Formats: sequence, structure tokens, C-alpha cells
Amino acid sequence: MKIFLDTANRELIKRFVPTGLIDGITTNPSHLSKEGDNPKQVLQDICNMVKGPVSIEVVEKEPDAVLAQAREIAKFAKNVVVKIPFAEQYLPVIKTLVAEGVKINVTLIFTPLQALMVAKLGVEMISPFVGRWDDIGVDGVELLEEVITVKDLYDFSSQILAASIRTLIQWQKITQTGVDIATLPPAVFEQAMKHPLTLRGIEMFDADWKKVGKKGIFD
Ligand code: E4P
Repeated sequence: MKIFLDTANRELIKRFVPTGLIDGITTNPSHLSKEGDNPKQVLQDICNMVKGPVSIEVVEKEPDAVLAQAREIAKFAKNVVVKIPFAEQYLPVIKTLVAEGVKINVTLIFTPLQALMVAKLGVEMISPFVGRWDDIGVDGVELLEEVITVKDLYDFSSQILAASIRTLIQWQKITQTGVDIATLPPAVFEQAMKHPLTLRGIEMFDADWKKVGKKGIFD
């Protein structure tokens, strides 16, 4: 499973990249709205901070404008993936972009049928939104499993990217699905690295080692 951070916060990205676990970043207009800096600068910095793919979402609405903006985003950096929401009017746009070699992440996926349609167009990534399904009382991990089944049954090349993960429990369940990528809020990633029993165990070992009365283990 590849791990992406779902954020546009440069401080958090800078903090977690040294773990060696961050394979990419997903941004969206909501994330960028929280950064209080020029979005172009924020995105430029992020693309320089990580080697892996950085998803940048289109903000235009009309299909022709989305096409033009997607082309512009695609040229922005070598590691950019253009994020486009699922909609009927964008399918021809996506088809054109894929033919041009542009890497697309189709976002706001809520059914296996939406996933099937964009997988047929050859997109790079497909993002089912687990947490937003859970928000309305539907099992988001089940949706994810159905999307993965579609990918496997028909041998599509698109990578499935589990999005809208809000809790550690959701991420743990997602690890059992075999999904290609999980994009995590930094808080969930951070929480996963801390376990009270691990911390307590370290304290106990430290306390016992003090009783030995030596600094180094081979002193
Ligand atoms: C994914 O690419 C989206 O940016 C993200 O996961 C949305 O998550 P949310 O439903 O918590 O806003």
C-alpha cells in the first residue's frame, strides 16, 4: 500500500517526509483554502518537497475550461497528477487528456460504476471517498471493496486511491482491502505512529536499564 498525505500544509509535509513513508500527496481546493498563501507557491513548494505524485485539482467548471486548466496543471511540475471530479460532462475531457498522456486522478467517486467508467478511460488513479460514505450511514470500506473488485475482475490498470479517510479505524480496515493507495490526513498518520502500550513499554525498558548502571550496552 502506498501512503499519501491528504493536505496542502507544507509544515506537516516537511515533518513527515523524513519518515520515508510518504509516497505522494493529494491536495484539493479546501486544503489550499486553509493555507493563507498564494496557491501557486504552496503547490510549487509541495511538488519540490516530494518525489512522488502530487494531485492538483481543477477549479474550472465548464468542460473546455477544465480541459485547458488540466493541461496547464499537467505542465506545472513533473510529478503532478491532475485531479478532476467525476461528472458526465468531464468524461470526454478525461478521454482527451488520457490520450495526450496526462495522468488523471478522478475524485469524488461514490459507486463502483463510476469507478468502472473512468477505469475504462485509462485514468491513473480513482478516488473512492470512504469517509463521506460513512458520514451518511453507508459502509465506505464496503464501497472501496466493490471498487477494488471491479478493478481486479476486469484487470484495469488504474490505481485505486482510498480517500476521505478520517480515523485510524478506517485506515486499519482499509489495510485489509489490498487497495493500491491510501491518502491520510496528517493527524491520522501521526496517530498511527503512537501507541500507548509501545510508549509504556519504552518507559519500562528505560527504567530497567537504569538499574544496570551502565551508559552504553557494551560498556
Ligand atoms: C482526496 O483526494 C480528498 O482530498 C480527501 O480525501 C477528501 O477528504 P474529506 O472527505 O475528509 O474532505
